[in-house]
Amino acid sequence: MGIDVRRIDGSFAGEVLGADLEREADFAAVHRAFLDHGVIVARDRPLSPEAQIAFSARFGPLMGRRPSMSDKALMPGHPEITILSNRKRNGEAVGLADAGRYWHSDLCFEENPNLGTILHAVEVPPEGGDTLFADLALAYETLPDDVKRRIEGRRAAHTFAKHYRDVMAQGSKRTPLTPEQVAALKTTWHPIVRTHPETGRKALYVNPGHTTCVEGMNEVESTALLDLLYAHSVRPEHVYRHTWRVGDTVAWDNRRVMHNAQGYDMARYTRHMHRTCVHGDRPF
Ligand code: OGA
Ligand code: MN
Repeated sequence: MGIDVRRIDGSFAGEVLGADLEREADFAAVHRAFLDHGVIVARDRPLSPEAQIAFSARFGPLMGRRPSMSDKALMPGHPEITILSNRKRNGEAVGLADAGRYWHSDLCFEENPNLGTILHAVEVPPEGGDTLFADLALAYETLPDDVKRRIEGRRAAHTFAKHYRDVMAQGSKRTPLTPEQVAALKTTWHPIVRTHPETGRKALYVNPGHTTCVEGMNEVESTALLDLLYAHSVRPEHVYRHTWRVGDTVAWDNRRVMHNAQGYDMARYTRHMHRTCVHGDRPF
């Protein structure tokens, strides 16, 4: 059977049909779809941790522990997999229960941020817990020319510290980072408009979660510009909403999209996901 890629609900995201993620021979078509769409979805196929790691590693080297994440969320025996979950074992959280509940691009605060993320659904709530994706290449292309000129060649600062302080202040139950991890949360500068190293397409590379300011602007000017870019980025025509089913695997390109996990009733339902992250290059 051939591999087919279909646009989902008229959005930019693509559903990959007929591909076996465990088959090396199918990867070229899957990778092409990933570059074309920025978010790809494969459904109805549970993946073992080993299969997910093997599939993810075809995109590039995998990222293990990070300063921005407690080691407790790593899967025992498979540190390439982070567990996003509200499950508990012996009263202890098995993973991160409140990851990504805001617009962000994964690890944009690192010098060589994550190229892409692969998330696999093991258990999902019957309602809530969707993930939103905004296409920042489309957002860039549809900006007015005067805004494009204002951001051309400029850089913005990114840090995880801002979000970490916010979630802890709001009473997050996540395991706190160690003092060494907190000390390693530095500020990193990246171009506001980045060029995709594989497609050559330009995309915005700023997000409300981790971007703090624009280089060479005062705070008022910088905040106004970033707010304008965010409002434009999350217009409904730039956003794909993924409603999860068990057995879904979604791979997204952090060089092109930002994402936002939606809440759900954690007292009633369980959401248990396996995440792998692929190392990327320095944005330019
Ligand atoms: C992530 C993330 C979103 C989700 O894995 O990086 O932000 O819906 N997850 O769980
Ligand atoms: Mn994320």
